[in-house]
Amino acid sequence: MTRTSIKRDKANIVLIGFMGCGKTTAGKAAAQLLGMGFLDIDAEIERAESMAIPDIFRERGEAYFREAESRRLRSLAGSGIKSAVIATGGGVVKNPENMRLLREIGLIVYLSAAPEKLLANIGKAGQRGRPLLDVPDPEGELWRLHKERDPLYRSFCDAVVDCDSLDVNGTAQKIVEIARGD
Ligand code: S3P
Repeated sequence: MTRTSIKRDKANIVLIGFMGCGKTTAGKAAAQLLGMGFLDIDAEIERAESMAIPDIFRERGEAYFREAESRRLRSLAGSGIKSAVIATGGGVVKNPENMRLLREIGLIVYLSAAPEKLLANIGKAGQRGRPLLDVPDPEGELWRLHKERDPLYRSFCDAVVDCDSLDVNGTAQKIVEIARGD
């Protein structure tokens, strides 16, 4: 299957969704299946700031992180990137400018998952810090954020993958089908 079959002639696939939905793991697997590159915005921010995300939040605050995130998206939109699967951070949807930039960059696919599944995945991920859930009631906070963000993800995306009954490979396969316009 050729890259030109990517729906609506979008050059890239952009994955959005809540922390723990599998944007990075399924995104990497889908990129491999599609013969596309893979880019993780969080990893790009960490590289640019020479700091891990939990440290950025702790030492510089969330507002600083959000500005770094938008800066990275502006530069990516101007870079002419092509043929990549791009994983975004879960909070990217909070800023409409981010979503406008992501629309320019690629076809937006929402990896949707219920809070129970997200909690299980985040538990499995173990050591990778998620500063927004570093609160006295992380489970309650996840439910609260999910309720706030799920409608936003849905309103900005071009396609939804319901990941609740899919493993990483199943999710990757769905992303591939969307990319190929099946
Ligand atoms: C965030 C999600 C994280 C990371 C940062 C903020 C969020 O990315 O960008 O901790 O606001 O949901 P993941 O969705 O990859 O965990």
